[in-house]
Amino acid sequence: MAHPMRRVAVLGSTGSVGTQTLDVVRAFPDRFKIVALSAGRNIELLAQQIDEFSPEYVLCEDAEALKSLPGRDCGTLEEMAALPEVDVVMVSTVGSAGLLPTVRALEAGKIVALANKEVLIMAGEQVMDISRRYNNQILPVDSEPSAIWQCMLGERDAIRKLIITASGGAFRDKSPAELANVSPEEALKHPTWSMGRKITIDSATLVNKAFEVIEAHWLFDMPYDQIEVVVHRQSIVHSMIETADGIVKAHLGSPDMRYPIQYALSHPERIFNPGLKPFDPVEIGSLTFEAMDSKLYPCFELAIDVGRRPGTWGAALMGADEAAVDMFLENRIKFTEIPDVIRGVVAQHTAKDTPNLDEIIQTAEWAYDTARSAAVGSSN
Ligand SMILES: NC(=O)c1ccc[n+]([C@@H]2O[C@H](COP(=O)([O-])OP(=O)(O)OC[C@H]3O[C@@H](n4cnc5c(N)ncnc54)[C@H](OP(=O)(O)O)[C@@H]3O)[C@@H](O)[C@H]2O)c1
Repeated sequence: MAHPMRRVAVLGSTGSVGTQTLDVVRAFPDRFKIVALSAGRNIELLAQQIDEFSPEYVLCEDAEALKSLPGRDCGTLEEMAALPEVDVVMVSTVGSAGLLPTVRALEAGKIVALANKEVLIMAGEQVMDISRRYNNQILPVDSEPSAIWQCMLGERDAIRKLIITASGGAFRDKSPAELANVSPEEALKHPTWSMGRKITIDSATLVNKAFEVIEAHWLFDMPYDQIEVVVHRQSIVHSMIETADGIVKAHLGSPDMRYPIQYALSHPERIFNPGLKPFDPVEIGSLTFEAMDSKLYPCFELAIDVGRRPGTWGAALMGADEAAVDMFLENRIKFTEIPDVIRGVVAQHTAKDTPNLDEIIQTAEWAYDTARSAAVGSSN
């Protein structure tokens, strides 16, 4: 039977999720067609992608380079997200870049595949309101929320708890004392997943796990006290749900982002991808689960505490964390100073309770700049 072709826009096509999205599209030329691609600054890779996928529309942050690329410039990411020729929008940008495009895509009735989780950290309430108003579900791409979504199919009213797994990140076997001297290079070596730089550092601090708790809260309308995190080193169980009768359903698979990406693109159909290695439980042998040691991860409780507050707090958290990660990668602060940077910004934030989207974006920018200028002051 012939399948209708899904026409895809990839926002952030040169990143880790973006390139893996193109891998999935490459594997199914009769199901997915790339209509629009957008990059930030990696023009060389974008040019190769244009050569291979011949998108009708392209965008990048470098206006001069954009003029020399084939494909029509559609102005902004928001306009790309709402193009009439597009069915599915993969939001695989990072930080606040995905917020307005996600909103526009929801309003335009697109299938929205959301990897850029910061959108929900900054504006979970507003974005979920828009999603409800337009009767348009957001499909998670992040592997843990995707696993929960898949476990929840057919179970919506009978769920007691969500159990999110965490690998523990690059420093899970270090003592708190050892963490003071870890380098960006060490932090970028994630034990089980290969990802972009920001999310890899956020995984080492467990800010990323706090973000997933907040993301799951918004996506699945689940109270925070019904969301747990357990450390699971192998990253084979991507997450679990506990149903009303105490049964736990788990989602297992290799730690390969192409699985959740593909499911978001093909939903509700499941399709076999011969390029993905089938999962073999015997090869894995054993699975372990441990309680999280909160002394190793001071950012986790901090990020949950701030991120669950209403109004502009999530945007302040997001901007402060983004600045702290950048400063750590630039060797300007120590790994153990990341929570201090976040706390410093939070202490100065005067929140707005019912902000609009512009105020949310401004708050994230304010938090980013405040964190960076405080660090400049302290190094003088
Ligand atoms: N990587 C993973 O496995 C993974 C898993 C789960 C969730 N996520 C989430 O998915 C999102 C993307 O992660 P990633 O690891 O793929 O990040 P990444 O590798 O850093 O890629 C980010 C992409 O966004 C583009 N970009 C950055 N800033 C932009 C801006 N201001 N305007 C337009 N485009 C911009 C980048 O372009 P250039 O590179 O051309 O500058 C790149 O294409 C993040 O929110 C992350 O938390 C990632």
